[in-house]
Amino acid sequence: MDVVEMTLDVMKYAINRITQTSPELGHPKKEEELRGLVGETITPDGIGGEKAFQLFRDVLVKATVPIDHPRHLAFVPASPTRAAVMFDLVTSASSIHGAYWMEGAGGIYCENEAMKWLVSLTGLPEGAFGVFTSGGTAANLSAMVTAREAWRSVCGEHNRDRGLIITSIGAHSSIKAMAKVIDADVYLVDSEDRLTQEGLRYTIDHLSDEQRNRLFAVVATGGTTNAGIIDDLDGIAGICKKEQLWFHVDAAYGGGALAADSVRHLFRGIESADSITIDPHKWLFSPYDCGAVIYKKPELARKAHAQEGSYLDIFKDEGAQGFNPADYQIQLTRRVRGLPLWFSLAMHGTKMYKEAVERGIELAKIAANLIEENPDLELVREPGLSCVLYRRKGWTPDDYTNWTYKNHKAGLALVTPTKWKNGDTYETVSRFCFINPDTTEEDIKMILDTMK
Ligand SMILES: Cc1ncc(COP(=O)(O)O)c(C=O)c1O
Repeated sequence: MDVVEMTLDVMKYAINRITQTSPELGHPKKEEELRGLVGETITPDGIGGEKAFQLFRDVLVKATVPIDHPRHLAFVPASPTRAAVMFDLVTSASSIHGAYWMEGAGGIYCENEAMKWLVSLTGLPEGAFGVFTSGGTAANLSAMVTAREAWRSVCGEHNRDRGLIITSIGAHSSIKAMAKVIDADVYLVDSEDRLTQEGLRYTIDHLSDEQRNRLFAVVATGGTTNAGIIDDLDGIAGICKKEQLWFHVDAAYGGGALAADSVRHLFRGIESADSITIDPHKWLFSPYDCGAVIYKKPELARKAHAQEGSYLDIFKDEGAQGFNPADYQIQLTRRVRGLPLWFSLAMHGTKMYKEAVERGIELAKIAANLIEENPDLELVREPGLSCVLYRRKGWTPDDYTNWTYKNHKAGLALVTPTKWKNGDTYETVSRFCFINPDTTEEDIKMILDTMK
């Protein structure tokens, strides 16, 4: 098979795949089973493009769950636009190095245009800006490093102190994980519900002097992963300002909803953040992997992240000057991963994005109504953004697990259980997270019908 033929085959597959609105809901197989089906694929002489592609297309990809399936409503799914997926191919084909303007100017220009729109959604003041990262975890880490460095730079006495961050148990697991990376402690406010101004005030007032001395940041969530809850951003901003603490808002999942007029008011206070995480690969219809970190004062990020080396000096020279994404987050060599978002935004316009996000919120309301009408089911709480937590009366945790596997195996849906903190105990419940605007009311009914 020559290169042209292979390219055509690959393009044919890609076009087929993105025009399918309901791709097969794949199912994982054990590694030994996959090996048995495809044999050795990495050999001294190669197995040839045709064979390798056939194994991928006919066997391996079928052992994956398409994240954009309209009945994949687990975790935080995704639903990249066709335009963005096609442009992901163009991004790869263009071989652009996205670290420095000198090499990547045209690509970085496009990323920055998309970034301007993201920044405008936040309401941050003039001068605020950001970069695209590999995802929310990398964005949170980049922001936390910037916050820690800013804290230490103000007062040299903290240079040897282990920092302390306050967040709530509703925060995403990546906050705790990235605190480990920066060797900081995390104080968790024990509420899965909205972190309030009063809750934060109480927590700070009850820290020991030693803890207060090490406290440098508060991480609020703009749409919790589990339930779509938005913390009291305005109240938290006020305390952070008074206490001179870095205010980070993790809106990796919920950030897309900044575009939705129906819920924008819930984010009041986000415009006071020092940094914000938004994942276009979650609710802004970009393919993986595309996160974003935005700073009120990008120069603080540059101080924290810009790498130095004699081989890099030329990039900082007058002649090469421009915006260098490598200076604002943890990664040096980087794909211009904001390009697919730029193309899709440029093609469709921001109004379509608004409507598609509103549809996710509407689907959550439709699901809530169907649940309320069903005597076997009960809402755990009102939907938060596009997340719905509900229980099947009388079910044990095992019933939820078995139901998930049964529906997945049947190729019907992927809907997974989660836990909700009820007083002192955690209750296992079921959860929908709507991202894909092509999910229908019929899809939801079909899934709920299997809970009889
Ligand atoms: C609120 C929040 N923050 C951070 C993350 C981590 O993002 P990523 O998986 O892109 O690293 C997630 C993922 O679901 C999330 O929901």
